[in-house]
Amino acid sequence: MRPKVLVARAVFADAVERLREHFEVESNDADEIWHQAELIRRLQGKAGLFITGTQLIDADLLASCPLLRAICSMAVGYNNVDLPACTARGVLVSNAPDVLTETTADFGFALMMATARRISEGERFLRSGRWVKWSYDLFAGADIHGATLGVFGMGRIGQAIARRGALGFGMRVLYHNRSRLSPDIESTLGATHVTKQQLLRDSDHLVIVVPYSPASHHAIGAPELALMKPTATLTNIARGGVVDDAALAQALRDKRIAAAGLDVFEGEPAVHPGLLEVPNVVLTPHIASASIPTRRAMAHLAVDNLIAALGAGPSAGRPPTALNPEVLAQR
Ligand code: GLV
Repeated sequence: MRPKVLVARAVFADAVERLREHFEVESNDADEIWHQAELIRRLQGKAGLFITGTQLIDADLLASCPLLRAICSMAVGYNNVDLPACTARGVLVSNAPDVLTETTADFGFALMMATARRISEGERFLRSGRWVKWSYDLFAGADIHGATLGVFGMGRIGQAIARRGALGFGMRVLYHNRSRLSPDIESTLGATHVTKQQLLRDSDHLVIVVPYSPASHHAIGAPELALMKPTATLTNIARGGVVDDAALAQALRDKRIAAAGLDVFEGEPAVHPGLLEVPNVVLTPHIASASIPTRRAMAHLAVDNLIAALGAGPSAGRPPTALNPEVLAQR
């Protein structure tokens, strides 16, 4: 009998089709939101699960689904998955790194630019019919070229943003990260490692790209915002919860900082009401990786992982981007 797999959210039909070549597949083509009990019910008898970054995989779910062998996500961030609990139960987990790096960096840069140059404010103004004359200071914002870019979290996406800033826009690049880049990479990116305090104090445009974990919860809150320049912008493309959204809304209202660009939110898809009330924020619905080719590549990478993790296909037993490959050695 072919193993059974569950696809938890709607995804490209060609990706699901590839799963059907190897498995008996139950898919969620209607893209319904399955709450935890429903997800667990549908997982009964399934060996594999295809997820996005939004399904919660915790110890209770794993205990309720003892046949589950592999959970493959099309997201790079995996803070929705209790990885140690999966490893303890011998469940292989994979994410989808690399394929989204450049697309996500493009978006982070675009969001930073839209924020600095007040593009959403300007468009809302125009659409509302209030544009009656040219004025010297109409939606005058901050420059990107020649400004100081601060990158908080210098992983693959942070480095791709730094490269855009340094090489494309002549920005001075500062970064803060748990581990320092090699001197070679620092010099290619033209990036200087600084303390978190220095980063907050010196950046004209701060971009948050640090993964979410209990250690990064509210890494940017009121005390950190208080260190920033009143002319600075903050862009968050990492995860909701890294920034304290209530404190940010207050800082924007008080003009503690000039503006923010946010693609991710605490408790999304809900958005803190204070953020909806202030004009100096650009808000987008978690779409940083959403170019069609990249979303397709992410889905297919998750499919490659699921096929290999369940012992099928040309890479059987060698899922390309496993987070806990050690569980395979125990099988
Ligand atoms: C999106 O946020 C991802 O983690 O891929």
